[in-house]
Amino acid sequence: MPALVLLGAQWGDEGKGKATDLLGGSVDYVVRYQGGNNAGHTVVVGDQKYALHLLPSGILSPGCTPVIGNGVVVDPSVLLSELSGLDERGVDTSKLLISGNAHLITPYHTTLDKVSERFLGKRKIGTTGRGIGPAYADKINRVGIRVQDLFDESILRQKVEAALDHKNQVLAKLYNRRAIAVDQVVEELLGYADPLRGYVSDTTLLLNNAIDQGQVVLFEGGQGTLLDVDHGTYPFVTSSNPTAGGACTGTGVGPTKINRVIGILKAYTTRVGAGPFPTELLDEDGEKLRTIGGERGVTTGRDRRCGWFDAVIARYATRVNGLTDFFLTKLDVLTGWERIPVCVAYEIDGKRVEELPYSQTDFHHAKPIYETLPGWSEDITQAKTFDELPKNAQKYVQALEEMSGAPISAIGVGPGRDETIQINSFL
Ligand code: GDP
Ligand code: IMO
Ligand code: MG
Repeated sequence: MPALVLLGAQWGDEGKGKATDLLGGSVDYVVRYQGGNNAGHTVVVGDQKYALHLLPSGILSPGCTPVIGNGVVVDPSVLLSELSGLDERGVDTSKLLISGNAHLITPYHTTLDKVSERFLGKRKIGTTGRGIGPAYADKINRVGIRVQDLFDESILRQKVEAALDHKNQVLAKLYNRRAIAVDQVVEELLGYADPLRGYVSDTTLLLNNAIDQGQVVLFEGGQGTLLDVDHGTYPFVTSSNPTAGGACTGTGVGPTKINRVIGILKAYTTRVGAGPFPTELLDEDGEKLRTIGGERGVTTGRDRRCGWFDAVIARYATRVNGLTDFFLTKLDVLTGWERIPVCVAYEIDGKRVEELPYSQTDFHHAKPIYETLPGWSEDITQAKTFDELPKNAQKYVQALEEMSGAPISAIGVGPGRDETIQINSFL
């Protein structure tokens, strides 16, 4: 099993960090392939809790080499502070590798993210304000700055000048903000060159060689399927491809080398930021899910919007990612509900619709059609096998599996590494 992808099947925060960490001990490389420090992955190891934003969750497993692929956007100041935070806690970060082709998030990207959201007013996306969208926009517009540019001062200066020529016009004339000085940006960026130099390498060559030699590579997605810029609820999405294809473009590893694609699926649904969310609960059930599930953003501290499980979305995630397995997380959060509604289809303009509509307008009009399943009240956090779950919890998992189109191979019953029921091995 040389290469597998692990990604979010919903709108992010499904528990990817925990799932990656769980596999970290058995894989040789964990690779982030897209996104940046908009991600917030919480990993609980024993009594220690780690919040990772940019670093792959595999960094917590001593035998594993963490890699930041070319598809990631890197804020160097965040990267260095995350590394020093882990160093202080005794985590060995020396094995980290960073693609020289990854793009940088500079201070002007962060500024532009914030001012453009303010400018959008009611129509804002609710971004994390980390400069993600503007950095990817520059990449596609061919005016981005890459990690390798840090090591050539003259190229770096030319590129920053070219980018700021345009951006300063926008900042001053459109947003009424002060222009940003080229020297200041170049000086700041050059300051990152020495601390980062030792981590930068040809990660594409290295990962392909590793796979060819039978080493195990895990690609870790940020965000989730419905936040994908192509397959998500556009425009309320992030600016990259968390879906499985992103693992190929974001690392330079071809699709024929990937054997397994695992979708991380929460036993209910959450979303942060603006955009449609058919099963959202604005009542006390929503509040209860938020409180019991601890649904508050790791990156921005915003409350997550909460709702019931949506099987239409799970089926969609199976399709667009070619999922081979699901890892169902946070089943323990549903303990105590007498009955648990699950969305099996939508009603759109009076018609029953089984699949996610491609039309944005239809999706905005989608009303969930629920089937209600019986709940359970027994504590499940100590369960180690499927058979140890209460009958109704078993039925809930089986019903979700039938509706979602791929086997549920693991179940999370708590945030810790060992609070997992493994049904089929991932490796
Ligand atoms: P990610 O962005 O997909 O990595 O997810 P987050 O870390 O943002 O959010 C998931 C939260 O759920 C974290 O606080 C995890 O520690 C926690 N978590 C993960 N799996 C489980 C589980 O099975 N049960 C419970 N109760 N918490 C879990
Ligand atoms: P993890 O990896 C949940 C959301 C933001 C916003 C939209 C665009 O922890 O699952 P961006 O800053 O990316 O331009 O914001 O995407 N968003 C996330 N929501 N989990 C995340 O990451 C997210 N990363 C971005 O809230 O709606
Ligand atoms: Mg998160």
